[in-house]
Amino acid sequence: MVLLQQIDRDKLPEHVAIIMDGNGRWAKEKGNMRIFGHKNGVSAVRDVVEGAVELGIKYLTLYAFSTENWNRPKLEVSALMELMVSTMSSETRKLMDNGIRLNAIGDLTSLPQKVYKKLQVSMAETSNNKGLTLTLALSYSSRWEITNAVRQLVQKVEHGELKSEEINEQLVSANLNTAEMPDPELMIRTGGEFRISNYLLWQLAYAELYFTPKLWPDFRKEDLFHAVIDYQKRERRFGMISEQLN
Ligand code: IPE
Ligand code: IPE
Ligand code: MG
Repeated sequence: MVLLQQIDRDKLPEHVAIIMDGNGRWAKEKGNMRIFGHKNGVSAVRDVVEGAVELGIKYLTLYAFSTENWNRPKLEVSALMELMVSTMSSETRKLMDNGIRLNAIGDLTSLPQKVYKKLQVSMAETSNNKGLTLTLALSYSSRWEITNAVRQLVQKVEHGELKSEEINEQLVSANLNTAEMPDPELMIRTGGEFRISNYLLWQLAYAELYFTPKLWPDFRKEDLFHAVIDYQKRERRFGMISEQLN
């Protein structure tokens, strides 16, 4: 495929994070209930995961439900939770076939038992897979995560396991939910909003940001490829000047 040929496999982002936004508007445009958009968002997830595997991306992290999303109408929240259970049931086989390891970040214990259990089962089943690590951010918010990390570090100091002078950036990173992953080099948001919505604030410090007006249920692997092509054209200077690179 022509699009794939435009991608330099030696310059792939190792970790891509996505804010899957626009399901509700997509459904509304079609004169449907918001949940219809969420249901159709699952096809986009399937296709993008497939695209990430084809590219050889190591980590894909999807914002599926934020801490703030608990404030949505009860009916939408429960429909979303049901959708997660049914999706995990129907897709785990495919994760196994493709060597995908399922992972989750966020306040998982706040999820309904059914979701929590299903998640634990799917994560355990796929835990030895060596391909893509697919992380779902569920009941996740970055401020919640950073606050927890601060609390953990303070407790270690209180217990005499750590000196406050020893706290550095690596240690903060190591106390986040994403401790085992590299920071995302590319963050994609669909749905046309230009904001981060409490997603991976620490981890995105130097990520390249890609915003598209496309609503999530319409997003496909080709859109992911376009984002990666765009990412590869950027000059990542990390505070330096052009002449210092290479
Ligand atoms: C994103 O789509 C999915 C979740 C937040 C769960 P939205 O539901 O936010 O859709 P819009 O932004 O209202 O269109
Ligand atoms: C962000 O989308 C959260 C997820 C995609 C899960 P929202 O639609 O909830 O974000 P805001 O509220 O418009 O910022
Ligand atoms: Mg939204």
